[in-house]
Amino acid sequence: MKKYVYILAVFAFIGVVAIVFKISSRTVTPQPNETIMEMNRQNLNLSPGNRIELPEPVEDGDMSLEKALTLRRSIRTYATDPLTLEQVSQLLWSAQGITQEERGFRTAPSAGATFPLEMFVVVNNVEELKKGVYHYHPHEHKLAFIRETDIGDELARAALSQSMVADGGAVFIFAAVFERTTDRYGERGRRYVYNEIGHASQNLHLQAAALELGTVVIGAYRDEEVESILQLGEEYDVLYLMPVGTL
Ligand SMILES: Cc1cc2nc3c(=O)[nH]c(=O)nc-3n(C[C@H](O)[C@H](O)[C@H](O)COP(=O)(O)O)c2cc1C
Repeated sequence: MKKYVYILAVFAFIGVVAIVFKISSRTVTPQPNETIMEMNRQNLNLSPGNRIELPEPVEDGDMSLEKALTLRRSIRTYATDPLTLEQVSQLLWSAQGITQEERGFRTAPSAGATFPLEMFVVVNNVEELKKGVYHYHPHEHKLAFIRETDIGDELARAALSQSMVADGGAVFIFAAVFERTTDRYGERGRRYVYNEIGHASQNLHLQAAALELGTVVIGAYRDEEVESILQLGEEYDVLYLMPVGTL
């Protein structure tokens, strides 16, 4: 009998320890935003290849689509305030965010769902991010840090001295891997890639309007110079630059 009481006491003790541990671990588990903020605090020591978790995109913002369409304008002069990580997250999502996990469908249509577009970001002035080049990973909704660098002025010069490229908090780079689409559609696939970049960039344009930020699409730049400054890799063709800044 004494033996059973002893075993019971041991189980009761283990039970109490388990409950206390569960409650205390629940209270110290960071909320998603705290996790993101903590990761971003560590960005100061970010090394290439690291992935930065982006804040959840908002799927039901305050401004109507009609209002954003009415407000959309090419804006080339920005204030010096930094962009926030929330704004960068929202802008990337608008261009290429995943809206149907199962098949990887996105905010912009894609010919045969071949998804030839890749988004890169040149950070000039964004809260919590180092100046440098980043690559958007839509499936994880994360930014991969490629390298630390300050290329705003150089990039502006390659864009025929359009100073807004250096003035915006970030420059969103639309690049394409043409083969993803031409492998399926042949030469016509090239046209589809250009069509697609129009969809994605218009999304970002409207999203910027809805966030009350300024942007403009930039097609006038020296391709080879821009690609050599960005060093994205041979497989990428840069098709558009969109500086985004505060107003
Ligand atoms: C393919 C294309 C390339 C463009 N390239 C540039 C550019 O390099 N620099 C610039 O300031 N604006 C550029 N723009 C923006 C146009 O100048 C702008 O859309 C036009 O003046 C109409 O103004 P809105 O966008 O405010 O309606 C470009 C627009 C398109 C569609």
